[in-house]
Amino acid sequence: MSPGDGRGHALRILRAGTGEQWATYIAETLIARLQVTPSLRVCLPTGLTPVPVYERIAGAVAAGRASFARAEVFLLDEFGGVAPDDTGRCDQMLRRDLLDRIDLPPERFHRFALDGDVDAECGAYEQAIGSGCDLTLLGIGRNGHVGMNEPGSGPESLTRRVELAPETTAASARYFSHDRLPTWGATMGIATIMRSREVWLLATGTGKAPIVRRVVRDAISPLVPATLLRSHPAAMLIADADASALLGHGVG
Ligand code: GLP
Repeated sequence: MSPGDGRGHALRILRAGTGEQWATYIAETLIARLQVTPSLRVCLPTGLTPVPVYERIAGAVAAGRASFARAEVFLLDEFGGVAPDDTGRCDQMLRRDLLDRIDLPPERFHRFALDGDVDAECGAYEQAIGSGCDLTLLGIGRNGHVGMNEPGSGPESLTRRVELAPETTAASARYFSHDRLPTWGATMGIATIMRSREVWLLATGTGKAPIVRRVVRDAISPLVPATLLRSHPAAMLIADADASALLGHGVG
């Protein structure tokens, strides 16, 4: 593990080898956190990136090596205007990929309802997170978004309703089995994420290599929201060899 890119910011960069090694490292490190802190409050993302990590965590729970019985899970974000039983919803994805296969008590899963007063729902979510999660896992959008914090999301942003960038709506097609794609959603804000004791930014595959390079090298700016995490005292970028291919030598 390296101390960062030498520019004095706190982001640690871990180049985690193959996709298999990457997933195993993240799953085992999370399991270790759970063993130290069984009541871990963890924020989890959806998307395709974390799926192999969740697969390994579910295996560890099935094998009796890990337990979420006392943990608490907060969903990072949710699509709006989508039916509660739509398989493309973030809560449905997380249930399928992880929650249905672990021992987390249902009442310890926090998610967004979004069928009533969205602003009130977001305010209540922010309250529930309170002083922050212990650990937050994040994927990265190709435009540098984290959660649904699209370019322009500032460091003070809280849990709120957001409009999706057109490219994010287009990219969401891979989650849905129909073409009524979401144009808005609700997400933890950058400030909400920054209150987490630890943040892990996850990236795999050559498709993420350009944005991984920008997250490390561009100026810290709301224009690339993931760069804002470089101001977090315990943030780590964990990328497989493909996603870190454009970082150059001596980084990570
Ligand atoms: C989506 C989600 C993010 C996710 C990102 C990357 O829009 N809102 O939470 O991390 O885009 O998704 P994927 O992991 O499928 O590349």
